[in-house]
Amino acid sequence: MKPVKVGICGLGTVGGGTFNVLTRNAQDIARRAGREIIIAQVATRHPNPDVDTGAVAVTADVNDVINNPEIDVVVELIGGYTIAKDVVLGAIANGKHVVTANKALIAVHGDEIFAAAEAKGVSVMYEAAVAGGIPIIKAIREGLAANRINWLAGIINGTGNFILTEMRDKGRDFADVLAEAQALGYAEADPTFDVEGIDAAHKLTILSSIAYGIPLQFARCYTEGISKVTPDDVEYAEELGYRIKHLGVSRRTDKGIDLRVHPTMIPVARPIATVDGVLNAVMVNGDAVGNTLYVGAGAGAGPTASAVVADIIDLARTFDAPAEASVNHLAFNDIEDVAVLPMEEVETAYYLRIQAEDKTGVLAAVASILSERGINIEAIIQKEPKDGEALAQIILLTHVVVEKQMNEAIAAIEALSSTVGNVTRIRVEHLN
Ligand code: HSE
Repeated sequence: MKPVKVGICGLGTVGGGTFNVLTRNAQDIARRAGREIIIAQVATRHPNPDVDTGAVAVTADVNDVINNPEIDVVVELIGGYTIAKDVVLGAIANGKHVVTANKALIAVHGDEIFAAAEAKGVSVMYEAAVAGGIPIIKAIREGLAANRINWLAGIINGTGNFILTEMRDKGRDFADVLAEAQALGYAEADPTFDVEGIDAAHKLTILSSIAYGIPLQFARCYTEGISKVTPDDVEYAEELGYRIKHLGVSRRTDKGIDLRVHPTMIPVARPIATVDGVLNAVMVNGDAVGNTLYVGAGAGAGPTASAVVADIIDLARTFDAPAEASVNHLAFNDIEDVAVLPMEEVETAYYLRIQAEDKTGVLAAVASILSERGINIEAIIQKEPKDGEALAQIILLTHVVVEKQMNEAIAAIEALSSTVGNVTRIRVEHLN
């Protein structure tokens, strides 16, 4: 069969990994695809010392790749929203299939890109955009296609997971670990994307769309970072039998879809709680299959290239089939405009840490504020002031409550004359 020719735009970590995997495993890849996959051209402004491009044509101009009539598939590995978007839309306009690892581009501009692709009868593949080497897009879109997906929850940012793991294991503080993550090359160019949850929100937005068949709604994703998680909270969570993870959570409810990224306490007994370091993990609950868990490397040259190349193989395998034979970009033929719930309407359990004067009646006052609002306490610990400190810490776990009720309760607790500063709140998910 006629070979499929690809053009790679961007030869950084992921582009270099993709080049090397396509070259190294060319024989097996051809056996799987049923035809040869040939790298026809590469666009890069900077040579990659880990890549020997050999006889492959290299250009500094992405337009050479987009306009190259020989190329069937354009692989966009530049990142960001600007040049990358032009490359993807330019390739589609020229009737080429696209493979991308660009989560930000898909989460924010995916609806426009998929519409353009469908009008042209080409495919845009994006397995590498979420959780690197874990084939989670294919698992949800195809492997779990029989199911009504009820919820999914994931550790989908390796940098954040690395930071929380080091804080827990070594008692290190946040800023110190972040500096190491940057030096090791895990973090995004702008590390606030990692630690403030924006990167995870991009990925959660994509997963939710293919899980429920809803439009990509990144702007409606609630996003809270991990920069305020303290070593005390990490320690108290463990004491209560929980672990703090930066989780993306999405749930189908009668009122709409939950779409939120925030520090989350999960029971230590859940296997996902033990996924540490830079690893990613996603739990998906479907009505037929029950709970499933997918674990693996979420970033890096090899793992991300694994996902990119799998997409290229999928395209090569179905290259001569009509466009309708390909799975829909967002997994469903009809996309339903289901509302994303405002955070105030989300229901979840909570961990609260309250700093208070060590005197009679504080605990009773806090308990009465919670009970007046129908908030049921599941566990409570009081920590005496540590040496040299004046304030005691009251740590509470609650049952599930609507966030609005909890906001009101927290405001009332903060207004008590016996409490000091802001109440720390971490949402709790039992994932069962
Ligand atoms: N900065 C991302 C992470 C890379 O830490 O997971 C992969 O998207």
